[in-house]
Amino acid sequence: MISQETIQQILSKIDIVDIVGGFVKLKKRGTNYLGLCPFHNEKSPSFTVSPVKEIYKCFGCGRSGNSISFLMEHEKYSYVETLRWLANKYNIEIEETEASPEQKVQQQVAESLFIINNFAQKYFSDIIFNNEEGQDVGLSYLKERGFREDIIKKFQIGYCLEQRDAFSKAALSNQYNPEYLQKSGLAVMRDEKLVDNYRGRIIFPVHNQTGKIIGFGARIIKTNDRAPKYINTPENELYVKSKILYGSYFARQAIDKSDECLLVEGYTDVVSLHQAGIENVVASGGTSLTIDQLRLIKKYTSNLTIIYDGDSAGVKAALRGLDMALEEGLNVKLVLIPDKEDPDSYVNKIGAVAFREFVASNKKDFILFQLEVSLKEAGSDSTKKASVVNQVAETIAKMNKVEDFTKQQDYIQQCSEMLGIDEAGLHTLVNKFIREKISKEESKASQKNGENKDTSSQQPANATDLSDETFNILFQDELQERAVVRVLLTYGIKQWDDHKTIADYIFEDEMDEEMFKNKKVAEVLKIYKDKYEEGQKLSVSDFAYSEDNEIVKLVIESTNHPYEVSHRWNDEDRAHSINHSIWDLKYEDFKSKVLYNENSRNEIYSYNTDDNYKDDVDGVLIYLKLKKIKRLILLNEEDLKKASSTMDEIKHYQEVHMHLKQMQIELAKRKGTILYPF
Ligand code: CTP
Ligand code: MN
Repeated sequence: MISQETIQQILSKIDIVDIVGGFVKLKKRGTNYLGLCPFHNEKSPSFTVSPVKEIYKCFGCGRSGNSISFLMEHEKYSYVETLRWLANKYNIEIEETEASPEQKVQQQVAESLFIINNFAQKYFSDIIFNNEEGQDVGLSYLKERGFREDIIKKFQIGYCLEQRDAFSKAALSNQYNPEYLQKSGLAVMRDEKLVDNYRGRIIFPVHNQTGKIIGFGARIIKTNDRAPKYINTPENELYVKSKILYGSYFARQAIDKSDECLLVEGYTDVVSLHQAGIENVVASGGTSLTIDQLRLIKKYTSNLTIIYDGDSAGVKAALRGLDMALEEGLNVKLVLIPDKEDPDSYVNKIGAVAFREFVASNKKDFILFQLEVSLKEAGSDSTKKASVVNQVAETIAKMNKVEDFTKQQDYIQQCSEMLGIDEAGLHTLVNKFIREKISKEESKASQKNGENKDTSSQQPANATDLSDETFNILFQDELQERAVVRVLLTYGIKQWDDHKTIADYIFEDEMDEEMFKNKKVAEVLKIYKDKYEEGQKLSVSDFAYSEDNEIVKLVIESTNHPYEVSHRWNDEDRAHSINHSIWDLKYEDFKSKVLYNENSRNEIYSYNTDDNYKDDVDGVLIYLKLKKIKRLILLNEEDLKKASSTMDEIKHYQEVHMHLKQMQIELAKRKGTILYPF
């Protein structure tokens, strides 16, 4: 663990222009700096760096953050790796806090395994290039398959001799610990002697995100029915199979640049594609994708293209992981390689150019592919077809990120066409799944809080207007919730009136966490509130260095929104909006009123900070109150349904209902007089 003092020392030295400028060519524009965004391809610069705020923001792709998140995203470093990199850059000596005894052992084992793996890689590489058997058997095998020497060197591929213990002997004579040699999987104990585990095999080192070797895959050369084709490193302190994507170290820059990750099954597929100049490629090792692997991919890009051979079991396995991928917000495409070839053999057969073309023109959308396959299976059986419809709706409902809203609409349209059903019908069905999912999550959350154990109330409430409902779920809440963060952090310490600050005003309205769909918003408010009660006044910069990157993103994005209410939202529009309750506000109306503000491009802070801030705060809070009232109305309706007997009881609930409705109307009226800046 790096000590808090060291972290503070590092943070105090950080100069964002210097750090980002090391990777991006920046030009001074006013108080800010401007350059071409390193996270997406662009011709005119929209990547802004503010030395004052110590943040960057791209108005093209929307990425934003501080020096640390820049290094984490651009270089794919972990938080700790970033701190070490910075400490090294600024010549700061790292002071480590005492690790627990277990952590120490774990670190020590990991460190020893790294050293052994490093030694082994050098040893096996030396054999393949300089030893007679290495050249005659190992190197010539690879060359016959068409691998060039430069690519063999790049991937550090080696060869393990057929002798019983040539490697083990070398390792022992270099003082490597027998216990760790076994743990690394490089050697095994036979009759109380260490023998080599990968005898007569080609050795593919597996690298982590920073290029260190965490394990090996060893491929047999001579076909032998009794021996497995590959032997892989056993799970140990370094090698955790579910988190590994082979080739990710060599692919990271290319994935970033192309904004796409190609996924293949095997080691040789990755190496061959690299050799052909296709470098944005990683391998899963032939098993179905895990959530950790998907998240690793999501760190680099949202576009995943799976390239498998047509009849591989891998396709089925990948299909099973599809829902998980959607929930992570990935766009998944599939390319099937024909004629019993795999990517390695196919690229060798048709060449790099044709292979690229093949991939580009044979990309199938994964959801549509799944639908196509299941429709074929269902044939003319109408029961089966109905379950296909259900299955598709459920899959589409899994896209739950705000930015997936349009994508979801597209899918509904395309799938309803393929299914030959009414688009509105599929829409309704998708919404049903969304509501079910949300009410499941909500009841899970409230059960956690020890309330509402009654499972009969898990049924979703009857919604009247589905499209409004979806809109609320998918878009509006997120913006409203972020707006709370914005006003609190921007105006928190200003006075509301003679007696209280804005923060007091915001917090006096009991806000329970459940009101926020975005749990990070609730977290930020809670942190602020706790500190506030201790007498501390937090601001944006206090959150900008949170270790939780999601919080950093949330705070920066919430306080630097590139959207602003357009001046074109004139009085006529306002009059119009007063006549409508907020529940009538449709996405399209909303969008047409909120325009991209060109002027804000170079100015990181684009908000009015003059004294109409009270209106701003009030507007945000009214939405929040409306939301709370809506919740109360729903809860009350549930109670009413359950209320069995007495007239008095029923009357009571009806009175509560009337009262809440009245409040809702009043607030909605007030809301109509205020302009909404989010
Ligand atoms: N695999 C494994 N253990 C096996 C077989 C396969 O771990 N016994 C994993 C390896 O990661 C392998 C991948 O599954 O790379 C795909 O298997 P396969 O297609 O059989 O191997 P290729 O990588 O295509 O190897 P080659 O081209 O040399 O046949
Ligand atoms: Mn192969």
